[in-house]
Amino acid sequence: MTPQLHEPSKDTVARAHADRAAYDRMYAQSMQDPEGFWAEQGKRLDWIKPYDKVKETDFTLGQVSIKWFEDGTLNVAQNCIDRHLATRGTQTAIIWEPDDPQAEAQHITYQQLHSHVGKFANVLKTMGVRKGDRVVIYMPMIPQAAYAMLACARIGAIHSVVFAGFSPDALSARVTGCDAKVVITADEAPGRPQHAPKTNADKAFEKCPEGTQMLVVKRTGGAVEMVEGRDHWLHEMEDGVSDDCPAEEMGAEDELFILYTSGSTGQPKGVVHTTGGYLAYAAMTHRYTFDYHDGDVYWCTADVGWVTGHSYIVYGPLANGGTTLMFEGVPTYPDASRFWKVCEKHKVNQFYTAPTAIRALMGKGEQWAESCDLSSLKVLGTVGEPINPEAWEWYDRVIGKGRVPIVDTWWQTETGGHMITSLPGAIATKPGSATLPFFGVKPVVLDPQSGAVLEATEVEGVLAIADSWPGQMRTIWGDHDRFEQTYFSQYKGFYFSGDGCRRDADGYYWITGRVDDVINVSGHRMGTAEVESALVAHKAVSEAAVVGYPHEIKGQGIYAYVTLMEGVEATDELRRELEGWVRREIGPIAKPDCIQWAPGLPKTRSGKIMRRILRKIAENDHDSLGDTSTLAEPQVVED
Ligand code: WTA
Repeated sequence: MTPQLHEPSKDTVARAHADRAAYDRMYAQSMQDPEGFWAEQGKRLDWIKPYDKVKETDFTLGQVSIKWFEDGTLNVAQNCIDRHLATRGTQTAIIWEPDDPQAEAQHITYQQLHSHVGKFANVLKTMGVRKGDRVVIYMPMIPQAAYAMLACARIGAIHSVVFAGFSPDALSARVTGCDAKVVITADEAPGRPQHAPKTNADKAFEKCPEGTQMLVVKRTGGAVEMVEGRDHWLHEMEDGVSDDCPAEEMGAEDELFILYTSGSTGQPKGVVHTTGGYLAYAAMTHRYTFDYHDGDVYWCTADVGWVTGHSYIVYGPLANGGTTLMFEGVPTYPDASRFWKVCEKHKVNQFYTAPTAIRALMGKGEQWAESCDLSSLKVLGTVGEPINPEAWEWYDRVIGKGRVPIVDTWWQTETGGHMITSLPGAIATKPGSATLPFFGVKPVVLDPQSGAVLEATEVEGVLAIADSWPGQMRTIWGDHDRFEQTYFSQYKGFYFSGDGCRRDADGYYWITGRVDDVINVSGHRMGTAEVESALVAHKAVSEAAVVGYPHEIKGQGIYAYVTLMEGVEATDELRRELEGWVRREIGPIAKPDCIQWAPGLPKTRSGKIMRRILRKIAENDHDSLGDTSTLAEPQVVED
């Protein structure tokens, strides 16, 4: 079946920053003369000292090095706040919509943002935080999370945001991993169930180095215990502190943030993004992909704990002087109309969410959206996982009323910003395809075995990128060798994405999902190895193997095969206990959807678990198990 091509409407084309001709021209220029192209694009930022060097990048294994605008200096907070003050000081920078629909939304102007961030930055300074120090942010979706990020950027501290749904153990591993001086958190987050970041942080601190301090934001005012000398309330620390904090002059290649993400092996890795290239790329992609114009109200429903929240709630929109909405709640509270009510209430123009949310809301019926006025919408976006055509059509018909372009944005924590995406007004869409590369991005499809570049238009293989772009990650925190091994060793000379993909006759890209041991559960990235090591840490478990399987709402679910210790009885109670155990070890998003007791796991003679076979069993595809002859004990598959 040839998928239907959705052409942008005349209105969309007329309004767009780029139409098809402009896209073709700019893309061609970005390929023929990357230096010239990015020298020009870098100017969308304010530089303290302008750059002469533009691009110095090398993908050669053993000497991988990525530098953009290297001799320029700037400050990210200055670019996201101060430079807008003269022209838009009274414009809303952040709209905050609280969890409780009856509670009043906040409109924070650029002027107010400047003052909040300046004060916050001065507090961090009084706590001893200096340029280059690390600060962990473990916060619910409140404006102070954005203030904290920008305050770090202002003084040159490197932030590492940890998703508030992660467990105390996961938090302490990250605090220790980047050797953070301060952890910023909040007393409680309203919601169902209510959530207490401060209590989690207290537990995490049992395993954090002596001397780490905690800065606590008051959200609900619920009772929390403050440890004398270690914990500080933000509002007390801010008392009498000036809101004037000079922005530190940073080199373009100074680190802006570390964000831990899951890989196929071992513990999560600290993805490092730097200052100049990252911000230029986040700003440019935000402007073009969402066709953002002055005065638009833009809403990305992600959490600031993920890269989407970094680039497309905070840095991209604010660098563009935009109005960005931050939402504390969930799509289904008080009912399944909440997203659409918020769109109506704040007259949202661009709305950006994940396929898993669309599928969940689709399951609740069309009536929830129908009662809302969605006429303000101009662009709809999706991110995080492949979107199935049914969900795409529903989004298009029920939310966009067939008149709003959908941008399906493929990218990763590692890429900093959008890599393959349609642009409203420029690129006709096909449901389920991320379409064409962004400016400066050179995708290649490789043969997974030989690594050869598949030159034909219509091909299928693994997705790699042939040359650097400014938003690319620079290294893994403290482990440059792992960075090279993970992304540059398998296919020499390319950045390997870990995704499979197909290119169709029109040159459109279709992401087929991860080809490694990373799974994507409700758009949250998880390493199967992390879940396995949590399971085997339980005293009843001897061995565990975890794979993803197709899940109607979540995209992928977590399927765990567990072999118990000799003599331990496989009961439903134990199953529940293990589910709770993984929840506590990693966080609620890692709870297995299905635990299957396995008397043994299929292994090769060298002892490697045959995940391919386990995946097939989890998918209920018993007929295509493939070759099982290399198994040490073929009988275990039968079992
Ligand atoms: C997947 C999220 C298909 C992909 C920004 C990638 C997608 C991983 C899409 C990165 C999309 C993201 N279509 N798959 N539009 N967007 N992915 O690091 O497998 O949390 O490698 O970054 O999500 O997840 P991450």
